[in-house]
Amino acid sequence: MQTVLSAETSIAKEQGMNKVTAESGKIVFSQVDKIFAAPSKTGDRISALLDLNLAVKESEIVSIVGPTGCGKSTALNMVAGFDSPSNGSLLLDGSHIHKPGPDRAVVFQHAALFPWMNVFENVVFGVKSRGMDKEQYQAGAEKFIKAVGLSGFEKHYPYQISGGMQQRVQIARALISNPEVLLMDEPFGALDYQTRILMQQLLLELWAEFRPTILFITHDVSEAIYISDRVIVMGARPGRVKLEVDVTEPKPRSIDFLTTPSFTSLEHQILETVQQEITASRAGH
Ligand SMILES: Nc1ncnc2c1ncn2[C@@H]1O[C@H](COP(=O)(O)OP(=O)(O)OP(=O)(O)O)[C@@H](O)[C@H]1O
Ligand SMILES: [Mg+2]
Repeated sequence: MQTVLSAETSIAKEQGMNKVTAESGKIVFSQVDKIFAAPSKTGDRISALLDLNLAVKESEIVSIVGPTGCGKSTALNMVAGFDSPSNGSLLLDGSHIHKPGPDRAVVFQHAALFPWMNVFENVVFGVKSRGMDKEQYQAGAEKFIKAVGLSGFEKHYPYQISGGMQQRVQIARALISNPEVLLMDEPFGALDYQTRILMQQLLLELWAEFRPTILFITHDVSEAIYISDRVIVMGARPGRVKLEVDVTEPKPRSIDFLTTPSFTSLEHQILETVQQEITASRAGH
């Protein structure tokens, strides 16, 4: 991979400002609130998101960081179609999201593979049950298992491969349906540092080849900067955009980027806001 040390990075400190307009966005949250019903008759309703405004461009990689419980997964689940806003609008290609669809694939923190299926069977399960013909899913499996570096492991069962390899299976399973949007909720959170960096690089390579729009949730600020075009810091619950930072370092990015002054400066800015929000969220409990 090439090293680009002179790239400029710019920092946008305007709170809640999105430089992507609603018109140009692939995914557009406008004034989205999410209120969950009280868990019991005596409990209070939970306001998870309040006035969330965020637009993600086509083929953009946007990461969301923020304190635990600030509503990151809630936001991602709504894009996946698992849930819907209480107020405001959430659009995908200009249309309201009502349900999950093959245009969006979700990758979770834990691989959730079927233990009785081998790698190949896990990768093709979804597309096969949606009616893709055999020739097509076999070709797809070969392509994406190779893309995630698992050629030769097609017949292995989940218990026979490492956690990092299981996450690769999950990514191949997501990519085989050719999704326009990849929704990743702490996908590398359970992996060791070295494997995590390899997976971040793999993700950037896959992005360069297939150009999906990626919404990526992580607690790891350095991971967010390394892989993203833009990092969003969400504030303490109810979640909304507190800080938005552009990462203008060109892709592909080498790991040398992690030690550049521009990287450190971005990291400092983001961590400062994240820390403030963590403190605010603790004060609120
Ligand atoms: N189905 C639900 N019913 C009730 N409350 C919910 C539900 N899902 C989430 N919440 C609440 O909404 C808030 C936001 O949760 P969410 O899972 O989105 O947080 P998060 O930012 O993803 O946190 P973490 O970093 O720990 O994963 C939390 O207070 C949570 O308890
Ligand atoms: Mg979460």
